[in-house]
Order: sequence, then C-alpha cells, then structure tokens
Amino acid sequence: MFQITFVTNDNKTVQAPENSNLLRISLREKGGIPFKCGGGLCGTCKCKILAGLDNTDAIKDKERKHFTEQQFLEGHRLACQTFVNGDISVAW
Ligand code: FES
Repeated sequence: MFQITFVTNDNKTVQAPENSNLLRISLREKGGIPFKCGGGLCGTCKCKILAGLDNTDAIKDKERKHFTEQQFLEGHRLACQTFVNGDISVAW
C-alpha cells in the first residue's frame, strides 16, 4: 500500500494498493478529482502530479491530445489514464 494526497481537497490522504488507477481511487475514497467520461476523451480529469511523478506509469496516446510535452514534464496527466505505483501528491 502507498499514499495518495489530494492536495486540492485539503490535502486529504488515502491508502491505495499497487498499480491503482488514479481516478478510480479518487472515486472510491472521495478524493474529489473532477471527471466525466472516464475514458481519456473529455479532459475533465486533468490534474498535475506535484510529487511522485516517477511513481506514475507511462503516458498514454489519449493523453497526448490534451497536453504538450512540456506539460507532461511538469507533471500534467489525465487521472483516468494514470496508474500509480507509489506515493504521489496530486492537484487539479
Ligand atoms: S474523465 Fe474524461 S478524460 Fe478522464
């Protein structure tokens, strides 16, 4: 298990198991990340990994329609397309 901190939601911190989908954890634990489609299309779940970017998985092609390379370097991701393997902090 590891920790996910939802910075925009008063730094709410929850426990999550290996290889968790970020949006799914947010839904289950009431983390508060906005969403609509859940499928990488709408962009509603845009978020920024403030700490622990190395603990997220590879960027998906669907995400490339929503962000520039520079934004990926700065930690921007789609929560519904991001899987987490260690502690992170996320804002939106
Ligand atoms: S919820 Fe629509 S892109 Fe993630």
